[in-house]
Amino acid sequence: MPWVEKYRPVYLDDIVGNTDTVERLKVIAEDGNMPHIIISGMPGIGKTTSIHCLAHALLGDAYREGVLELNASDERGIDVVRNKIKLFAQRKVTLPPGRHKIIILDEADSMTAGAQQALRRTMEIYSNTTRFALACNMSNKIIEPIQSRCAILRYSKLRDAEVLKRLKEICEIEKVQYNDEGLAALIFTAEGDMRQAINNLQSTWSGFGFVSQDNVFKICDQPHPIVVRAMVKACQKGDVDGALSRIHSLWEQGYSAVDIVTTVFRVVKGMDDLPEYTKLEFIRVSGGVSLRKGPR
Ligand SMILES: Nc1ncnc2c1ncn2[C@@H]1O[C@H](COP(=O)(O)OP(=O)(O)OP(=O)(O)O)[C@@H](O)[C@H]1O
Ligand SMILES: [Mg+2]
Repeated sequence: MPWVEKYRPVYLDDIVGNTDTVERLKVIAEDGNMPHIIISGMPGIGKTTSIHCLAHALLGDAYREGVLELNASDERGIDVVRNKIKLFAQRKVTLPPGRHKIIILDEADSMTAGAQQALRRTMEIYSNTTRFALACNMSNKIIEPIQSRCAILRYSKLRDAEVLKRLKEICEIEKVQYNDEGLAALIFTAEGDMRQAINNLQSTWSGFGFVSQDNVFKICDQPHPIVVRAMVKACQKGDVDGALSRIHSLWEQGYSAVDIVTTVFRVVKGMDDLPEYTKLEFIRVSGGVSLRKGPR
């Protein structure tokens, strides 16, 4: 079983990070009167999970009957909104007192504007029995009228320490052998995306039997930050040949310009041993590189 599923939180208390927002969800769960909500944010940070945890907290055993989930792989055109959603909203189910049926629209930003338009009326007509929970990466892809009917919760990327803590817990339970650099590499490559961190942990462990920095970068297929770091250091010293040879070695390994430049950007951001001014200049230059397509 993939670890991302095995370790998917079931209770709101188990969700890592975004404490304030998760607190709000807990208040909603306790109060029982759920507003329509939109949770937006980057991939892999617990949006879908949070909605399911909330639904569990609200409905308990009635979860199976009381929840309709539609995600991007389901047909979600105007007809579905008119028929499937309407049918579910009209259906009688026994719920704990004061609770509502919940319709989960995952990856709602992939719904067409037409379907969203059809939704706005439905949301209103059935709101005494049915509440909507939408998850999306970009809330601006949700049409204004729906936004204005919902409480909007924004999730931010998870902090390194939060991802690290979770990875360590999983390593403990799965008896994964690792060293600290290995976990640091997982965190570097995941960039606050818990799903990616856990997936890469599992791939590295099952592929190599040990989570070290080198093994992680073999799995993640990103330019090795150590090489990039050495390149930046060479630049700092004015050693142009040294810097070029490192870039060439990455290029020969087949990494694209985009891979290399984005890694330079991220490595520089984390290099606390550079003087502030130099660091900002490096960030400015690597951030401003325009990446033209075509042969080199
Ligand atoms: N905040 C978190 N706390 C604990 N585990 C998490 C968290 N966020 C993500 N995970 C792990 O990552 C997996 C994916 O999370 P989830 O499906 O909630 O992401 P998402 O935010 O909905 O992403 P997407 O935008 O790609 O749909 C979960 O099964 C869980 O294992
Ligand atoms: Mg999701």
